[in-house]
Amino acid sequence: MRHDHLISAKQLSRGDIEDVLDRADEFEADPNGGAGAHSDALLGLLFFEPSTRTKMSFDAAMKRLGGGTIDMGSVDSSSVKKGESLADTVRVIEGYADALVLRHPSEGSAKLASEFVDVPVVNAGDGAGHHPTQTLLDLYTIRKNAGLEDLTVGIMGDLKYGRTVHSLAHALTNFDVEQRFISPKSLRLPQGVRYDLSRAGADVHEHTDLEDVLGELDVLYVTRIQRERFPDENEYRKVAGEYRIDAATLESAKPELSVMHPLPRVDEIAPEIDGTDHATYFEQAHSGVPVRMALLDHML
Ligand code: NCD
Repeated sequence: MRHDHLISAKQLSRGDIEDVLDRADEFEADPNGGAGAHSDALLGLLFFEPSTRTKMSFDAAMKRLGGGTIDMGSVDSSSVKKGESLADTVRVIEGYADALVLRHPSEGSAKLASEFVDVPVVNAGDGAGHHPTQTLLDLYTIRKNAGLEDLTVGIMGDLKYGRTVHSLAHALTNFDVEQRFISPKSLRLPQGVRYDLSRAGADVHEHTDLEDVLGELDVLYVTRIQRERFPDENEYRKVAGEYRIDAATLESAKPELSVMHPLPRVDEIAPEIDGTDHATYFEQAHSGVPVRMALLDHML
């Protein structure tokens, strides 16, 4: 990849994506294939918001490549609590690490951080903005299960605040993939994202009922309503639980439909789906390690 920092999925060309996914295939086949390759590398983990998968899979990926990680820890236990700015925090930690992974509640924070440091910055989620490494593992999972050609992908749930949605929808414009967007009216794609998708040549089809499109989907990407981003809790309550998938919902789906979710799920997917051939979300989460190994291997 040509980029020093990975801030947005908009930076990724089809070639960049395929390079990472091909390398991830190799790491998945041989998880210790990169052992020692980056034994002198230290990755800084700066998570200003909760994380399980993203942080732990970056940690695992760096260690599998032979390197180490240093973790800022929670906001409450760091100097952020004393009022330190993001710019100062990253300027200090760049002296300790060879690359930084940053998750932060403000949109634009990863871009801002990248302007203050010389080491590569990877955006692990900036508010309702982007989450490009989640997209790489989403694409990896789609490619493995359905191929990345001649597909129809439905993206459902919180399309307004969901950063995984913004990144994935954009990255899919590099491939021969039709997209269908399913959400309550109040959580439709932000205008800026819709504009970017149209400019990238995508037709933006928006729906409020999954039933209208379910039968044509090869992949259904379900997302959590991003409760923490709602300015008003009452607005959240109005839409919470509206888009729930269970076995009955999927009766009219293609047998090969792959149901994905970046996780964590709250109640969007009934546990009864977990044991079916549709369920792809745990496999999706597991691919975070080989995909992030591939990305770090490129960047370092
Ligand atoms: C997502 C995120 O943080 O945006 N989680 C993840 O990284 N897998 C999705 C979410 O929190 O709903």
